[in-house]
Amino acid sequence: MLSRKAEDYLEAILNITEKKGYTRVKDITQALDVKPSSVVEMLKRLNSSGHVIYKKYDGVTLTPVGKDVAAVVKDRHDTIKAFLMIIKVPGAIADKDACIIEHELDAKTIEQVKNLVNFVISAPDYPQWLDHFDTFCTTGKHPCEEEKRKKIGSSTETKHF
Ligand code: FE2
Repeated sequence: MLSRKAEDYLEAILNITEKKGYTRVKDITQALDVKPSSVVEMLKRLNSSGHVIYKKYDGVTLTPVGKDVAAVVKDRHDTIKAFLMIIKVPGAIADKDACIIEHELDAKTIEQVKNLVNFVISAPDYPQWLDHFDTFCTTGKHPCEEEKRKKIGSSTETKHF
């Protein structure tokens, strides 16, 4: 079982490699905001565990095993980030918090979060409840409640007549 930190490194290496085509120690120090000495230490560990191939001056590449782990973590990250953005968490915060949550959740929870995200984004029209949620976040009122109250109001009015 890899540590959270190790998972973050593998995920970062995958992201950097996808963007630049290669990964160097400097890229990881910037991405994870850590010291070069810590990066080298972790890369040596991940090299011995068979997750990366790290050669001084040559940069770092993921082994197939490392790539598999990184892909799972990245998928979890993207899923949680998408979910947080659906519930109106700003992108930068969603990104930061996804990186914390991604290591902890049960696979079943991730699966259901993913189902929800896919359900929402595959809706043919922008889901009405999301509009309502937006209103709820700013006003504290559920538009359906308002609608209901108006209807009840008008139906009692009718009864009086
Ligand atoms: Fe992450």
